[in-house]
Amino acid sequence: MLATATPLLRRFWYPLMPLATLADGPRPFRLLGQDLVLWLDGDGEPAVMEDRCCHRTAKLSKGFYQDGRLACGYHGWEFGRDGRVLRIPQLPPERQNAGRMGSRAYRAAARYGYIWGALEEPLFPIPDFEEEAEGFRRIDEFYEVWNCAGLRVMENSFDNAHFSFVHRASFGDQGHPEPAKLEIEEHPDGFLMLTEVPVRNPEIQKKVLKMESDTTVRSMRGRWYMPFLRKLRIRYPNGLSHSIVTAATPIDDRTSQIVQFVYRNDTEAEAKAEDVIAFDRLVTEEDRDILESTDPDVPLEQAGREYNMPSDRPGVLMRRMLSALLAREGGAPLRASA
Ligand code: FES
Ligand SMILES: [Fe+2]
Repeated sequence: MLATATPLLRRFWYPLMPLATLADGPRPFRLLGQDLVLWLDGDGEPAVMEDRCCHRTAKLSKGFYQDGRLACGYHGWEFGRDGRVLRIPQLPPERQNAGRMGSRAYRAAARYGYIWGALEEPLFPIPDFEEEAEGFRRIDEFYEVWNCAGLRVMENSFDNAHFSFVHRASFGDQGHPEPAKLEIEEHPDGFLMLTEVPVRNPEIQKKVLKMESDTTVRSMRGRWYMPFLRKLRIRYPNGLSHSIVTAATPIDDRTSQIVQFVYRNDTEAEAKAEDVIAFDRLVTEEDRDILESTDPDVPLEQAGREYNMPSDRPGVLMRRMLSALLAREGGAPLRASA
């Protein structure tokens, strides 16, 4: 499956950019190979539009905010969130012709500090995270581009067999490569995976976990939301909850916008956000290095192109569920995987 060749992927919400980035003006973003402009109107409401002015095609991301609207940087035509031209500064009020012209607008939402967008009617809503209701603190961790497919990132985060190797320098225990057992509960929009993983507790982690032991156990509830969003809730024996939300928003076939934030049930006084980020940074870099070496074309049908072992079950299920959804909703990919 190549992202831009799979129209079904247009029917999901994706987090695109931190809302704060849009405070001073519009910004460009590429989603599934399509150039978009992201911006906030005068009420702080988010907008996602094609990055092309309907006058002379200039990129609207080169524009600026004018009276709560998006003004094109070329001749100043002003747009509303629905993409319609609301004002043409060169014309007197009686000749504005408001609303007849416009650039294409897409669905936009503001959640969890990010602007989200969907290119077509979404199949599922943006997930609710129970940590919000539980009053956990949220720490923004990463916003960066990775050179790999979103599905590889998702599979990796449900892969109990990689810790001992990819993370051998951080928390992985190379002496115990047997993957932990897991249970999976299927949901219409993804699945929930339950597992308990014994891990090493390195010095850097002892500080943020407030645990002195050299090893510990992670009770993990991993929730996969189709296609490229996951939340991994890790509980430690001392009651600490660390929930990692990771999205791999598809920029194009080879690149993903990684958005990661965490929820914690402790306080800044107990564990500094910067220390929490430092440990996750280390672990994430280990994943990134290996994931960027993988093939961006992920075969949904196995057919011998990639071999499996039993612990690959979550990833195989992802492929199977996406394949079934494609058959039901989206038809075949535009380009067959070679
Ligand atoms: S190109 Fe945008 S106003 Fe002319
Ligand atoms: Fe990992």
